[in-house]
Amino acid sequence: MEDILEAIKKSAIKIEKEIKNSDGSFSKNLNSTGDNQLKLDVVSDEIIEDELKQINIIKEIISEEKEDSVEINPNGKYLVGYDPLDGSSLVDVNQSVGSIFAIYENDYSGNNLVASVYVIYGARVDLVIALNDVKLYRLQRDEFKFINNLTLGEKGHINATGGTQKNWSSYHRELVNSFFIKGYRLEYSGGMVPDLHSILLQRGGLFSYPTTSDKPKGKLRMIFEVFPFAYIFEKAGGKAIDGEKRILDFKPSHLHDTMPCFFGSTYEIEEVKKVYANRA
Ligand code: AHG
Ligand code: MN
Ligand code: MN
Repeated sequence: MEDILEAIKKSAIKIEKEIKNSDGSFSKNLNSTGDNQLKLDVVSDEIIEDELKQINIIKEIISEEKEDSVEINPNGKYLVGYDPLDGSSLVDVNQSVGSIFAIYENDYSGNNLVASVYVIYGARVDLVIALNDVKLYRLQRDEFKFINNLTLGEKGHINATGGTQKNWSSYHRELVNSFFIKGYRLEYSGGMVPDLHSILLQRGGLFSYPTTSDKPKGKLRMIFEVFPFAYIFEKAGGKAIDGEKRILDFKPSHLHDTMPCFFGSTYEIEEVKKVYANRA
């Protein structure tokens, strides 16, 4: 496992430099979920693949930017799912973006996750590693220095509301508004890594990306976006559900499957369950 974490740190330092020098141009391809691929998506994917394929405890890797998995070592122990650059379209408006990694044993079931990692490229470069707890590191002069453990309180004050509002269901709109009426503050950048990092660092709140009329199965990808953050939120003392059921109890049918997701501190997730259990 240590070799994988070191490879992620090396990749992060290289990707950060690429972001600073990028011109925001698009490659001419779409990825498996139909998103336009920025050259930066492709370069970030290549940087990570080059690092991970040198590690023989890895059996295979699967990237958001590639249709199929890539075999590394048939006798390897771990499967690594990753989103090389999440929120990449935000680079052009100089917002924070991130890389997300999920490390599985045996298969890509949520309950087979054994570690999750993300990097946020913002005003500072932070790295968060979740094994049995959640640890925050910060890049200082090309070294990641440990800062502190991340834990969630019982409840927070942030409401990060994903998806296009006109495409929300009426009960989801009721849920979102119920938090604003309680005084929650809207924090949503359109990048799940900074949006979730903010909730973790402020020790509570709710991030939702529900099913919508234009995305009936949600938008976020199970293997390399939803599961890794579900793992991190649970290890930090929070919860992660699809509106009713625990996210990590799910297993994807296909490598690029998506699902609705709610990540948060306990109080907010219990509120989600109440509204979704009684939806018309
Ligand atoms: P990616 O750039 O890897 O495709 O992911 C972007 C995702 C995620 O970061 C964010 O939460 C979501 O897209 C935002 O979607 P909307 O713009 O539909 O809110
Ligand atoms: Mn993504
Ligand atoms: Mn991406």
